[in-house]
Amino acid sequence: MTQGDTPRVTLKLATSLDGKIALANGLSKWITGPESRAEVHKMRAAHEAILTGIGTILADDPEFTARTEPPAERQPDLLVLDRQGRMPMGAKVFGEPTRQVVMRASPDMAAAMAGYQSVMIEAGAQIAASALRADLVDRIEWFRAPLVLGGDGLPVFAELGLESLDNAPMFRRTGLTARGADIQESYERVR
Ligand SMILES: NC(=O)c1ccc[n+]([C@@H]2O[C@H](COP(=O)([O-])OP(=O)(O)OC[C@H]3O[C@@H](n4cnc5c(N)ncnc54)[C@H](OP(=O)(O)O)[C@@H]3O)[C@@H](O)[C@H]2O)c1
Repeated sequence: MTQGDTPRVTLKLATSLDGKIALANGLSKWITGPESRAEVHKMRAAHEAILTGIGTILADDPEFTARTEPPAERQPDLLVLDRQGRMPMGAKVFGEPTRQVVMRASPDMAAAMAGYQSVMIEAGAQIAASALRADLVDRIEWFRAPLVLGGDGLPVFAELGLESLDNAPMFRRTGLTARGADIQESYERVR
């Protein structure tokens, strides 16, 4: 793998039925159930790196480790997009000594992922939309829980600035799996 090759990029989303990732006040933990979360841990273990945004770190303080049974042989690296250096020193992501946390101050997401063969994006609406706008997303794994958060909930994607349906990113569904009370929808990009 040489610097500059593009990795296979999976965008993981966990939402309510109506595509919201959090309440208006930012509360979002445990929208999806334990079966979905167990699958997400397996997916993390299957990727070389996880990419997130500083917004997610500040809102949720997640660990972003792969907690699988049996334990993963290697923890994926964590790439954090943080243009203004807002990362708290005591963030939980620094609590796993065997895992590398890489801070990226550049908004160039493709450059941030260079050098990896597979990256899973787990982030909020800003990073998810930026990844789509840059056409970096190859697959979407969408976990949908059977609850409704309403129009005041936070949408899964920020603005894409589309002016024509022809320009909307298109995906083809490749899987539909029940995960306890949730549904996992798998999509691949159609280019
Ligand atoms: N349900 C889920 O699957 C899920 C997953 C993750 C998060 N969330 C929720 O999402 C919410 C946070 O959303 P968010 O949109 O603030 O978080 P985010 O997308 O994780 O992070 C956004 C921040 O990343 C930084 N950034 C750096 N480079 C960027 C780029 N190229 N494009 C966009 N942003 C870039 C920006 O801050 P700077 O300008 O300061 O760098 C931006 O404000 C929280 O409520 C969290 O709970 C839900």
